[in-house]
Amino acid sequence: MDKTKSLLKEKYKLDITNMIPQQGGWAALAYKICCNERCFFLKVYEKSRTSTSKWTALIDQYVPITVWLMKNSRLKNKLPVPVPTITGDFKSEDDRGIYLLYEYIEGETIGDKDLTMKQVDELANMIAELHLYGEEIPVGTNAIKEDFAVPFLMQMRTVLNQIDELPIDVELLILPHMEHLVRLIDTVERWSAVLTQRNLRMALCHTDLHHWNLMQSGGRLMLIDWEGLKLAPVEADLMFFIDKPYYQEFITNYRKMHNHFEINPDVLQFYRGRRKLEDIWEFMEQILFDRQEAQERAATINQLSKELNEIFLY
Ligand SMILES: Nc1ncnc2c1ncn2[C@@H]1O[C@H](COP(=O)(O)OP(=O)(O)O)[C@@H](O)[C@H]1O
Ligand SMILES: [Mg+2]
Repeated sequence: MDKTKSLLKEKYKLDITNMIPQQGGWAALAYKICCNERCFFLKVYEKSRTSTSKWTALIDQYVPITVWLMKNSRLKNKLPVPVPTITGDFKSEDDRGIYLLYEYIEGETIGDKDLTMKQVDELANMIAELHLYGEEIPVGTNAIKEDFAVPFLMQMRTVLNQIDELPIDVELLILPHMEHLVRLIDTVERWSAVLTQRNLRMALCHTDLHHWNLMQSGGRLMLIDWEGLKLAPVEADLMFFIDKPYYQEFITNYRKMHNHFEINPDVLQFYRGRRKLEDIWEFMEQILFDRQEAQERAATINQLSKELNEIFLY
């Protein structure tokens, strides 16, 4: 608390009166920070975690794009508002971690709950609006342009090739799924090479559209957690809705702004496969390379097991 307090004082000129840990997501710790009446949401990416460099590398590239969207699109009031440091940076840093500060959103995370029809329509409008914008916007998008790379695949293959060197519980967990896993890796790798050669339309995509990244605040639905912002084929977003019971309602609304839009099945297959492998690799990395307490490790093993049990569907 003291370290965070002095960081916020030094970098943001904020005097914290209260700091409450929040249930974060996977990648970062989170706190509600209050300075008298005003409250903020602080995300802390710990440097000790393997995934941190991946999640924080592009902050300076994607935050300005979200700020542009807030000012110039109908997504105004629907995105989290970043709070810059006194020198105008969107992140700050100390020996422990990398920090991102946002205005606090009073509201409820959708999480496990179902969306109402009104929320589905609102979400479809938001995503359709986001997909109207591409590389023509006056903020650079080159750094976030999809290149269909799957950078962790080589390391994943190496680990799987030496599976008998893994901790025994991890080995026993993976072994029964080995064939499916290797087949999926091959498929994703093949599509990765093929899609690079195609001339696909690209638009701004959020790329992490699950219900834990949606909040209902007062009368409006808000889309948070923009770390994955990409210039990519829109299947990168639409893959999250394909299996939802509300897909028809969603896509009917979406098509009001994107007439006659059809999903490209090849691109969809690539994105679904890559996402599955990313999730599996994220958990493997945590177990193999992060320092975890026994309880945390058991939870990660459980999550990995769930992911592996679904792999035959891909
Ligand atoms: N600005 C905010 N104000 C209040 N709560 C927030 C805010 N941003 C995120 N949250 C809450 O914190 C959770 C994790 O935040 P998120 O940005 O999704 O982090 P992660 O990258 O770790 O998933 C969200 O599910 C939401 O409940
Ligand atoms: Mg999240």
